[in-house]
Amino acid sequence: MYRVLVTRKLPGPWIDHLKKEAEVEIWEERDPPPRSWILSRVKDKDGLLVTLTEKVDREVIDAGKNLKVISTYSVGFDHIDVKYAISKGIRVTNTPDVLTDATADLIFGLLLAVARRIVEGDRLIRSGQWNLPWYPEFMLGKEVSHSTLGILGMGRIGRAVLNRAKGFNMRVIYHSRRPHDVDAEFVDLDTLLAESDFLVVTVDLNPETYHMLDYSRLTKMKSTAYLINASRGPVVKEDDLVKVLSESKIAGAALDVFEREPIGSDNPLIKFPNVVLTPHLGSATRETRERMAEVAVKNLINCLKGESPLYEVRL
Ligand code: DGY
Repeated sequence: MYRVLVTRKLPGPWIDHLKKEAEVEIWEERDPPPRSWILSRVKDKDGLLVTLTEKVDREVIDAGKNLKVISTYSVGFDHIDVKYAISKGIRVTNTPDVLTDATADLIFGLLLAVARRIVEGDRLIRSGQWNLPWYPEFMLGKEVSHSTLGILGMGRIGRAVLNRAKGFNMRVIYHSRRPHDVDAEFVDLDTLLAESDFLVVTVDLNPETYHMLDYSRLTKMKSTAYLINASRGPVVKEDDLVKVLSESKIAGAALDVFEREPIGSDNPLIKFPNVVLTPHLGSATRETRERMAEVAVKNLINCLKGESPLYEVRL
């Protein structure tokens, strides 16, 4: 029987399914497993199923002498040294597609929340500060319909965001490595920054996109524009975003991802009323997380059997 190491319990029946095919050693806690647990347990395993909180670097890959597959329960694979794994003959798989809609829904939720001050309004009521009846200039936000949406990256999630924007009659512009066959205008990065009312980040984290949105780029945005990021925190240089917000160079931000997660209560982003914060919830629906488990488990089993996985990361 194959031997498999799983670093987290997953929703749905898929770990039980995996147990029919392999001897499974699993970390049962909600906190990530200590690195030493992974390093000592991976030694005799044929397969490794991880989530995005486990760093699968050279040390882990070298420790997994028998590894044939690393299956990540995520679309992102920036936590894995994919190049090194592949050089060692280890296949790397991920879970795209099944989380596209859930993530695009959250992105749109964030966009609406920050534009229409939904979280601010909720906080105002709960803190007992809604003490005047309706009046014309109370808590005015930014209109979403007919405004310009800028999408950075045009992969699966970018397209799903674009589809949602059509329902809001938005003008959509985008920038990515190359133009795509989509119903939106391809523009260079400076134009994207300068013209977007809402700038949505959907690019992967990789050496090219690390800190791509730094002070010089963020300050090219309109002072009335909003930044929305549910991709990976380090695409935005967080200290620079704080500076840009402090100087009112943009109107606000809605963030689901951060440079270090979870963020501490001393994170300066917390003090801005015009910033909406969610704790990395992009794919967090029961349906999606169960589908991700199905894909991650099937990817793992297929690779162990020498068959093609549903999705494979290739560089
Ligand atoms: C991913 O899959 O990469 C998301 O960040 C979490 O689902």
